[in-house]
Amino acid sequence: MALTRRLTGFQATGKLHLGNLLGALRPLIAAQKAEGSVALIADLHAMTVDHNPTDVRENALELATVLLAAGVDAERTPIVLQSHVREHTELHYLLECVTGFGEAARMIQFKEKSANGGPVRLSLLTYPVLMSADILLYDVEQVPVGDDQRQHLELTRTIAHRFNSRYGETFTVPDGVRPEAAARVMDLADPTVKMSKTVGTGRIGLLDPPEMIRRVVARAVTDEFALVRRDPRQPGVTNLLDILTACTGSVSSATSYRVLKQEVTDAIEALLAPIRARHAELTADPGYVRKVLAAGADRVRPTAAATVARARRAIGLLD
Ligand code: TRP
Repeated sequence: MALTRRLTGFQATGKLHLGNLLGALRPLIAAQKAEGSVALIADLHAMTVDHNPTDVRENALELATVLLAAGVDAERTPIVLQSHVREHTELHYLLECVTGFGEAARMIQFKEKSANGGPVRLSLLTYPVLMSADILLYDVEQVPVGDDQRQHLELTRTIAHRFNSRYGETFTVPDGVRPEAAARVMDLADPTVKMSKTVGTGRIGLLDPPEMIRRVVARAVTDEFALVRRDPRQPGVTNLLDILTACTGSVSSATSYRVLKQEVTDAIEALLAPIRARHAELTADPGYVRKVLAAGADRVRPTAAATVARARRAIGLLD
């Protein structure tokens, strides 16, 4: 298999939204002719908090369906379900042996998710180590990550360097790639926070029907300035303008918020309508999506197995 250069990971929780499409999926699709990419569906990560087994299975299949509907070409970009390639969990353990408890406990996402006082799974603590295994397994050079995953990527680099210097050159140390500013989509109801899979009412799901898109955009938070411009004091209007540019590549000619919102609604609908249609076709044939996942795992397994073999040998395990 050709050297894989990029890995884009999606956690199989909740539904993908416009921010995922513009920030992660579109760059992946745009680059797939030029470079070797892997699209990873992280279903094991979905079990680090209270989970429903049926949902985990359904979300995994649904995410794969959406990736295909959005234009991921599985021939070029293997779509891999994390749990289908056992090497993820094997490397996870080996990496735990070079990670400090304190390092994991310091992660902001762990602190936030464990702050509410309820029971916390041990897997939530080791979540970033599993993510490191996802990345290091495939010798990738670049990992696109949003701000929320930046610290986990730094930990991955630390662990990789440490392993290499203690036990000998084993892993490629990856770089994080940040999505372009215009591809960072904020919540339409609260433009100070990123659009999120799990929270927020100002979210546009990739499969939302046209009426819902229109309603969410119509209700988008604006301001009292009544000026259509990008300005830090106008995060809502700036977000709408960024979304418009990201969707169409053009700038707004609107002079009122009402017209701007109409432009944004039309731009989003134009982008999502074909995805919705293709998704409906794919849903009618779930056997096909399952075959894509099986083929994806088969494609990457040799690389994963070779990495684990190197790591086992280096760390002191008998062949
Ligand atoms: N933790 C990532 C997120 O919540 C998803 C993910 C899992 C991931 N494994 C990865 C992202 C490996 C990049 C690389 O978005």
